[in-house]
Amino acid sequence: MTDCRIAPSILSADFARLGAEVENVLASGADMIHFDVMDNHFVPNLTFGAPVCKALRNYGVTATIDVHLMVDPVDRLIGDFLDAGADIITFHPEASAHIDRSLSLIKEGGAKAGLVFNPATPLAYLDYVMDKIDMVLIMSVNPGFGGQSFIPTALDKLRDARARIDASGRDIWLEVDGGVKVDNIKEIAAAGADTFVAGSAIFNHRRDDDPNGYDSVVRDL
Ligand code: DX5
Ligand code: ZN
Repeated sequence: MTDCRIAPSILSADFARLGAEVENVLASGADMIHFDVMDNHFVPNLTFGAPVCKALRNYGVTATIDVHLMVDPVDRLIGDFLDAGADIITFHPEASAHIDRSLSLIKEGGAKAGLVFNPATPLAYLDYVMDKIDMVLIMSVNPGFGGQSFIPTALDKLRDARARIDASGRDIWLEVDGGVKVDNIKEIAAAGADTFVAGSAIFNHRRDDDPNGYDSVVRDL
């Protein structure tokens, strides 16, 4: 198994103290930050845009920022997030009229690119882009909100995606997103995921006796 990565989703963080929250969760041992962008069009919720990503960079965040675009159309925002310092940009294939071109926009901008698969979205979208992508993101909830329950069918989908990635021979990360908790992460890892988004599992379990607030829960994941 390649290295594993924990990517806290800031959707569950305290937005009023976002810089400090990100600093603390990274100091607690997280590997990168998952940045959920929602437009109240592609998904029924509205979060934050590229200026907030830029603000985190200006605050001094140097860790990998993994931007999950739940927006439609996607292309215009790709440029904004490249300028704002995103390291990874993933999008839902349903939100792009030209998937190959959207992936190229991300790559030409110097970021890593990935596709995001909702629970019912087939992995067939991978058939002609395995040479272009750096990450596959499997949604284990329907996108739009944190704190939802893990959808078990995601395990078989992870196994399928892992087989596709291994067959490609490329270094492609396999990220899982939604309902990841201390009590299911081992099973999810066994299904082939190597990168784990966790929002409520982390930010809802801050402990005052932890040096950075989240040390215990990040260690437990
Ligand atoms: C949902 C987002 C997820 C979510 C994860 O649309 O893409 O990243 O914030 O939150 P938890 O870990 O609480 O399910
Ligand atoms: Zn996400």
